[in-house]
Amino acid sequence: MEKPLSGKKAIITGASAGIGRATALTLAKAGAALVLNARRGDRLDALAAEIAALGGSALPVAGDAGDAAAIDSLLDAALGWREGGKKVDIVIANAGRGLAGGILSSDESAWQGLYQVNVLGLARLLRRAGLYMAERKKGDIVAIGSVVGQNISPFSGFYGSSKFAVGAIAEALRREICASGVRVSLVRPGIVVSEFQDVAGYNEENFGKSVAQFGKLLEPQAIADGILWLLTLAPHVNVNEITIRPTGQPYP
Ligand SMILES: NC(=O)c1ccc[n+]([C@@H]2O[C@H](COP(=O)([O-])OP(=O)(O)OC[C@H]3O[C@@H](n4cnc5c(N)ncnc54)[C@H](OP(=O)(O)O)[C@@H]3O)[C@@H](O)[C@H]2O)c1
Repeated sequence: MEKPLSGKKAIITGASAGIGRATALTLAKAGAALVLNARRGDRLDALAAEIAALGGSALPVAGDAGDAAAIDSLLDAALGWREGGKKVDIVIANAGRGLAGGILSSDESAWQGLYQVNVLGLARLLRRAGLYMAERKKGDIVAIGSVVGQNISPFSGFYGSSKFAVGAIAEALRREICASGVRVSLVRPGIVVSEFQDVAGYNEENFGKSVAQFGKLLEPQAIADGILWLLTLAPHVNVNEITIRPTGQPYP
């Protein structure tokens, strides 16, 4: 049976955990060949084996998505891989990290690394994917922002500022290349339970108490399902942005 993404090749950054991992599995089940990026290569190898066991195909390309040379290598590896044809149809810019605390209280020593991957790495990947797809006159780019990239929160203010930048970069790129037939979409997740909370330094005090009233939080699959929906719309339909929250999350 024809699957909706058969014959397509997708790059996903941050595929070793959480939203990226769930999205990789979802797109693979929909028929796409996957090029997987994250720093933990052992996790990518295991995910590629899981995808192969499902009858799909995946190429692990370990590297730091904040590093310009690693992004070049990722695109080169994807374009050189024969599976799915020597092309790239879909780029999901998902790699990123959070940081607990506001401008006054967050760990300043983490600021540079956070911007390196969340903003500069994403911008470089979008630029390279955008140039390639604009010339090809088709393709899909999905950037993972956040609800705090729309509603700045004092509890994660510096991280939120990076996601405001993600929203601006994605929309700026969309305006630059939409006329060439390339779709650019921004996905803003609300609270998704993943490794994100540990990496960000969230704990019972600064996170658990505030979300206790939100009810059931999201699993990464909810975001993966939203991304698959965006990618399977008719090619002339570009939903520019979607926000996916737990039903009980009023803010941010
Ligand atoms: N969870 C939430 O509540 C939430 C809400 C809104 C937005 N988001 C956004 O959603 C995205 C995914 O988050 P998640 O919840 O899935 O978090 P996660 O479970 O911590 O996964 C983050 C992924 O990004 C990768 N990554 C981090 N830094 C990287 C780097 N420098 N180079 C390459 N890969 C890197 C990690 O892999 P390695 O460690 O192996 O490199 C991992 O695969 C992030 O952009 C995050 O800001 C999350």
